[in-house]
Amino acid sequence: MLIAPSILNADNLNLKSEIAAAVAAGISRFHIDIMDGHFVPNLSFGPQLVSDFKREFPDITAEVHLMSDNPEVFVPAFVEAGADIVELHYEAMPEAELTKWLAYLNDHHVKAGLVLSPDTPAAVLSKFAPKLAQVLLMTVYPGFGGQKFIPEMAAKIKETNELLQGQLPIEVDGGINAETAKVAQAAGASIFVAGSYLFGNGQIAKQVAELTEALR
Ligand code: DX5
Ligand code: ZN
Repeated sequence: MLIAPSILNADNLNLKSEIAAAVAAGISRFHIDIMDGHFVPNLSFGPQLVSDFKREFPDITAEVHLMSDNPEVFVPAFVEAGADIVELHYEAMPEAELTKWLAYLNDHHVKAGLVLSPDTPAAVLSKFAPKLAQVLLMTVYPGFGGQKFIPEMAAKIKETNELLQGQLPIEVDGGINAETAKVAQAAGASIFVAGSYLFGNGQIAKQVAELTEALR
């Protein structure tokens, strides 16, 4: 079980202290949402944020959730910036492109993840599984923090787990709190992204402890 806070809804003007507080509470991986204003109707961070993060927190894992249909520009840029994991959306490019960029990540010794938006069937994962370190199932439509967990995704998590026969960790992202994390865990998820739940009330240590306790 791993909790990966999404910094999207952290206090962006105090990002360093927000991250440090989460690290002090035991967090070892952060989920960095990259939104390009085209694949999703929102903008967030760029490669500079990732290189700053790795300079300040070299031992902490930077997981990049790339919500962009421009892999040509952004995959190399985030690899160069020092991302430890890069997660690509199935919906963002043709399958041949996806195969190419997953191989690129493998060749650069950056862990590769494949992300499925809520409407994409789990079955598409099978052919990419050998190139993947993990799978990310969106439990909201990508683009914004603070949305509600889609309850139907529990069945998809279970189906994915059966399809992959437990061979890859399943991560969930969107609307995760102490209750929905338990639902996702019962269905087979083992990595939990949470943004507004962890950073929403200025009590990061307390929120991390509560989510950890819920998943015990
Ligand atoms: C949505 C992002 C999520 C989001 C999570 O597109 O991928 O990572 O920031 O935020 P919460 O936990 O608030 O749903
Ligand atoms: Zn995300």
